[in-house]
Amino acid sequence: MVGMPTQVRSHAKINLGLGIGAPRADGFHALTTVYQTLELYDVVTVTARPAKATSIRLTSNDARVPTDSRNTAWRMVEWALKAAQMHFEAEVEIHIEKRLPVQGGLGAGSANAVAALIALETELEIVNELSNVPPFGQVAEMVWNVKKLEIAAQVGSDVPLFLIGGTVLGLDRGQDVYPLPDIEPVWCVVGLPETGVSTPQAFRDWDALCAAEGLTAEASEVKLKELSRAYASAFAGTIPQAGYKTGSSGVVSNGDDLAGPQESALVRTGITSWIENDFERVVFAQQPSLREIKRILSGTGTPEAALYASLSGSGSALFGLYLTRGDAEAACARLQAAGVESRLTRTLPRTEYWRGMVL
Ligand code: C5P
Repeated sequence: MVGMPTQVRSHAKINLGLGIGAPRADGFHALTTVYQTLELYDVVTVTARPAKATSIRLTSNDARVPTDSRNTAWRMVEWALKAAQMHFEAEVEIHIEKRLPVQGGLGAGSANAVAALIALETELEIVNELSNVPPFGQVAEMVWNVKKLEIAAQVGSDVPLFLIGGTVLGLDRGQDVYPLPDIEPVWCVVGLPETGVSTPQAFRDWDALCAAEGLTAEASEVKLKELSRAYASAFAGTIPQAGYKTGSSGVVSNGDDLAGPQESALVRTGITSWIENDFERVVFAQQPSLREIKRILSGTGTPEAALYASLSGSGSALFGLYLTRGDAEAACARLQAAGVESRLTRTLPRTEYWRGMVL
């Protein structure tokens, strides 16, 4: 079992809309969101060998990454070893090579946790081992997959989405995840403001806004239910229609016979006309410079305008989605002129997410 270390890509995510409910008794908030994975990634490397007692060592090329149990990847590995029915004991070394921006909203830490788990599974051949003991075979694999989603949800609300990848509906506190039909990739520019946003503080500001506007728990529940139905029906429409082809990847595409991309599958879902991120209401009020970055990403009124632009999660990262590479590059140039750092990437469908996962 001792061999080469396993290297896994740990991709970033954005939120294609995010509806927040009133505060709950458990300290969390109900959410309705659509997560979308991006090509941008960190690399997580794991070496693991069976041992008498479990020990975990974590290192990173970035001094800001915690190297103890505060790290989500650490907790994920620790809990996964305990959760595997046969109680694996292992010596585990995790290395996190940070390439993703440190700005919040991209789920980088959460993705690292899932990448560490996938690498650990490969290193210890966990699925194989579990298949040889009751309940055996595919049932054992299914039980383990459900277990992984449970552990991920305990590690953090936006961790389980990375066990699905592609376009993902997120409900409850964001940990309750369902795969949506993948959309054809679009160009994405991530804007990286110098300032950060505290997620717990953004939620507290949201609570104050709810109180001021008299948003009741009942009304917010209705709002979120309507939102998840709207998402479901919009994505139901992405089933390939006459004139559109599904590529070898199973991704709905415009068809190869078109001279160039003329319309985006994302626009065809209809969501770009009505989605919004509720965090913008509180975060932009606190930090107007972020609203300005969204405006720059949008490029409204120009030929290179974004299909959609928004804050991602509670920020501070923002993103714009574009039909062509040229449009995206124009957005990068606008940001650069304004002194704002950016990254050019693409949205990453589920098939590609899993195909490229293990390096
Ligand atoms: O689940 P996670 O550890 O990422 O959440 C961090 C904090 O964000 C929570 O302690 C809570 O204050 C807030 N949160 C929330 N509602 C959610 C998710 C997170 O209030 N749905």
